[in-house]
Amino acid sequence: LPGLGSLGRLAGFTYGCAVRSDRLAEDPPYAGDVARECAVMVPEWEAKFETLQPEEGKFDFGLLDEVLTFAQAKGIAVRGHALVWHAALPPWAREAIASGADRARGVMDAHFETVLNRTRPRIRDWDVVNEVVADPPGSDTPDGGPGPLRATPMLTALGPGYIDLAFRKAREIDPTLRLTLNEYGIEEDTPSADEKRQRLLGLLRGLRDRDVPIDAVGIQGHLQMRNAFSAEKFTAFVRAIRALGLSVLITELDVREDWRVPEGYPARDDVVAARVRDFLASAVDGGVRTVLTWGLVDRYSWLVTDPDVARKDGLHHRGLPLDWEGSRKAMWRAMAQVI
Ligand code: XIL
Repeated sequence: LPGLGSLGRLAGFTYGCAVRSDRLAEDPPYAGDVARECAVMVPEWEAKFETLQPEEGKFDFGLLDEVLTFAQAKGIAVRGHALVWHAALPPWAREAIASGADRARGVMDAHFETVLNRTRPRIRDWDVVNEVVADPPGSDTPDGGPGPLRATPMLTALGPGYIDLAFRKAREIDPTLRLTLNEYGIEEDTPSADEKRQRLLGLLRGLRDRDVPIDAVGIQGHLQMRNAFSAEKFTAFVRAIRALGLSVLITELDVREDWRVPEGYPARDDVVAARVRDFLASAVDGGVRTVLTWGLVDRYSWLVTDPDVARKDGLHHRGLPLDWEGSRKAMWRAMAQVI
């Protein structure tokens, strides 16, 4: 069978995944899997602030260029991730932003200008801001701060208007880019997700009322089996965003298994696949036409490599379309059915 990218294309649907430049270079089977499955890819960290500008004014596009060269050779589109993200600020930038509003704005503008002008021929779609809504009480990661917006260095320095400034700057540099706001914790049926969805919709209405140039919302989609999921609520949420004139993408789909898993791989994989089918079907119902998974093969998933999210019982999560060895598993088939 052709890859998900080709299957999707036939139906007007775009599938892609996050990629790692180091593995593309070292692991030909992995590079082959990416080339076969993806119509679009997003660098997992090669376009983050700390990678591109580790020291002030000293930009390094080396790793990002590896991704862009691979994509060009294979005819794959590339999304940019991410211009403003509190978790990817190098120490110098944290310090500079903390030293006052003018300096914070200077850091943002300089980064946007260099990065967007350098990448504009190849990257047409950017996550301008990532994870800017605060986590309400009761969420898994209650590190958001007291207000509806996450307490980040940019919020402290510039106030809530930093989001407006970011989108306006990106639009000014290149009016033809698709500008996206990317967010997590809004997918599942938990009390904190309900509240976070309302916070996000409030933010989006404000952006619309102030004529802030934003084109799309990226819903990350890091699902967790221990949470409930409501297809009705999720479809309604996607429609509510689209009613504001924005498109909606799923940008980082993967599934964390519960700590209680059934015995053996086929059974475990079926549980994950069923959740992915429900989730994607409701997304498509709401009008989503682009889905990226956060990785492609389980062996390189951040659900395996990142200690914050990895299982702690000796098993590894099986939350991506291809298994450890790169074979298509039930999640792949669920995606092929929905897209
Ligand atoms: C993650 C990467 O996958 C990890 O390798 C890295 O250590 C931390 O960042 N939401 C995002 C992504 O927007 O940028 C994160 O990526 C995963 C959660």
